[in-house]
Amino acid sequence: MQYQVFSREEQVGQAAATLFAAQLLRKPTTVFGFATGSTPIPMYRQLVRWYEEGVLDFSYAHSFNLDEYCGLPADHPQSYHYFMRENLFGGINMPAAHIHVPNGNPKQQDDAGWAAEGEAYDMAIAEAGGIDIQLLSIGANGHIGFNEPDEVFIRDTHRIKLTQATIDSNVRFFDSEDEMPKTALTMGIGSIMRAREIVMVITGPNKADIVHQMMHSEINPKIPATILHAHPNVRVLLDEAAASKL
Ligand code: PGA
Repeated sequence: MQYQVFSREEQVGQAAATLFAAQLLRKPTTVFGFATGSTPIPMYRQLVRWYEEGVLDFSYAHSFNLDEYCGLPADHPQSYHYFMRENLFGGINMPAAHIHVPNGNPKQQDDAGWAAEGEAYDMAIAEAGGIDIQLLSIGANGHIGFNEPDEVFIRDTHRIKLTQATIDSNVRFFDSEDEMPKTALTMGIGSIMRAREIVMVITGPNKADIVHQMMHSEINPKIPATILHAHPNVRVLLDEAAASKL
């Protein structure tokens, strides 16, 4: 795991955008793995700017997002479908048929339905040729995607019960805790680890403790991000606040 520290949050976004843009310039058919949350927004803004300026062309690229809440309609302002449209897909020319976000609202919402949804998602990633470059951020509890701290790592795309820590940290986006979904469909640890390259963006003082734990802990499902020590090509881009305990 290599890491680089930048003095400001915006520079983390610029550096990440540069890596994603370089990948697309080298390989126009790139399969991207994208993430939601506040940390990736500066990177998405820069990619949209470069598209508008004619530097980047996404027409042959494909993308797979990490996760989606279960039970929110795709047009709900807090759904990750909506987030991605607002922050990236609405501003670039990736064809709609190339864009994949897990379906948090399938017709069959029982165990078999969620399992089928997860299986279809992993199959679609494989059929696209696998993810070339995966963007990640980290939750304050060490989650990647919505792979929450657990006794074991779960390999494939699956439905997960959100921990109270995640609910507490994301409830601010909803009117009340009752309105926030308590489960999500997330790429599994195997789905993430199969990406050829991983870029992780981490900013802000509230991530300093978990960054320290991720860097200094053995691989351990109680801190899901520690699995990244086993990946051969991970670059972590941090601002000084997030790196302050290293
Ligand atoms: P954040 O979310 O970028 O909004 O901090 C990260 C995460 O929960 O994975």
